[in-house]
Order: sequence, then structure tokens, then C-alpha cells
Amino acid sequence: MSGITQSTALWYASRATGVVSLVLLSIVVILGVMVNRQGRLPGLPRFAVTGLHRSISLIAVVFLAAHVLSAVADQYVSIRLAAAIIPFTSSYLPLQIGLGAAALDLGLAVVVTSLLRARLGRRAWRAVHWLAYAAYPVALLHSLTSAKDLLSGGLLALTATCVLGVTAAVGYRLVSTRRVREQRIRPAELTGHAGGSGPAGVRACAPGNTVSLRASTVKTAAARYSPDAASPSGPPRTTEGAQR
Ligand code: HEM
Repeated sequence: MSGITQSTALWYASRATGVVSLVLLSIVVILGVMVNRQGRLPGLPRFAVTGLHRSISLIAVVFLAAHVLSAVADQYVSIRLAAAIIPFTSSYLPLQIGLGAAALDLGLAVVVTSLLRARLGRRAWRAVHWLAYAAYPVALLHSLTSAKDLLSGGLLALTATCVLGVTAAVGYRLVSTRRVREQRIRPAELTGHAGGSGPAGVRACAPGNTVSLRASTVKTAAARYSPDAASPSGPPRTTEGAQR
């Protein structure tokens, strides 16, 4: 750090805040996955994970703003503020800075819609929130290609830890989503009559199991138990009805 002078301070500030932004962004994505899968961190209730996710997102926005503003203010290279927002319009490193701008825009869309979540429908908010997953690899690509610092030494180890953490969290999420889907489908498919009274039917209806019925199964059951059905397998008549 002995090389920091008045003329290089902004350059160092931009690099340092860029690295901190990437680390915070990785933590935000990991916590986002934990919140979605009802995950818990040891010793923390679920609301604390949600709170951490939200707070660290806002801290990341502050560091990101500092990263972009210091890069724009640094006179050593010329990056206009517009180029930091409109992707691929920078005259300096157009592709690399363009990726940074694209990640920034995706991230901003996620933050703004989260702040307006009460006014937006949950569906619209969720759809935009998926952009957070797209923003991460774009930001990573920008980080790895804009400067060479992350490609060696301690910063390489830090970047690798971030990427491994995010990959593990997303992998865990995909596997657990698949497992939940399989659990929903399997009972009805295995028994063929999810509401049956045999052991398989009982298993299908065990607490915690979600039973999916095919439309045809529901129709057949409805026809069989309709009060108008002439079928002898209809519902048991009341003794009153039987006497008439
Ligand atoms: C989510 C968005 C972003 C993240 C996570 C991010 C992160 C990073 C990281 C980690 C670095 C490498 C630092 C180093 O190696 O020391 C970097 C470099 C850089 N970033 Fe970003 N950045 C983002 C968006 C932007 C935007 C929108 C701009 C536009 C001004 C920008 C401008 C720069 C510049 C100028 C460099 C250094 C390039 C050089 O030294 O020649 N970044 N960024």
C-alpha cells in the first residue's frame, strides 16, 4: 500500500471496493439460496438469515456505488458515468466495463423491485429476483477480465472461495428442489389411487407427504360418489333413505 499517492488513491479505492463488492455479492447470493430453501445458519433463526441477506445486499450497493464512482472520478482513464450504466458504451475496455454495467443494471433491478415488493405482486418480484442469479456470473466475468489482480495470490484464493461457495449453494438448491418435486409426484404415481385405504395409500397420505391427483382420477372419484350416480358402489345411503 506504500504506492498510494494522491494520484493513485482513486485507482486503489476503485480496485479495493470492486473486490469487496464481489465478496459481498457472493455472500448475498449464498444467503438468498438459504432463505429460499428454508435454510438456516447454525444458531440463527430463519428471519435472521433473511435479515442478513437484506442488510448485506444494501451494504453491497454502497460498496458498488463507491466502486463505480471512484472508477468514473479517476482521471487516469476516462469512463463517463453514462458508460457505467449503459452497457458496452465505454471507450475504455468496452467489453469488460460493459459487463460491469450490465451486472450493475441487473443488480439495481433486483434491489429496486425488492424495495417496492409490497406494491408489486409476489410473482413479478420473484421473476425479477431471478436476475440476481444472472447478475453474478456477469459480475464475475467483469471482475476477472477488467484487471489481473484476481488471477493470482491471495485474491485468486478469495475469488475461488466465493465461486465455490456460490456454486455449492446453487447446486444444493437444485438438488433439494428436485427432491421436493419427486416427493410430490411419487406417492400418487406409485399407488395409482392416492386416497386408497391400503398401506400404500396410507403411506401416500402420511403427514408431510403432498399428494397429487390426476384430473382423470378426480373425475372418476367424483362420478362414483355423486348422489345422482345409479352405481351400486355409490355412497352409503342413510338408513332414513333406505327405509323409503
Ligand atoms: C456488480 C457489479 C460490479 C462488480 C462486482 C465489480 C467488481 C470489480 C472487481 C472485483 C474488479 C477487479 C479489481 C482488481 O482486480 O483489483 C473490478 C475492476 C474494475 N471495475 Fe468493476 N465491478 C462492477 C461493476 C463495475 C461498473 C459498472 C464499472 C463502471 C465504471 C466498473 C469499473 C471497473 C474498473 C474501471 C475496474 C478496473 C479496471 C482497470 O484497472 O483497468 N465496475 N470490478
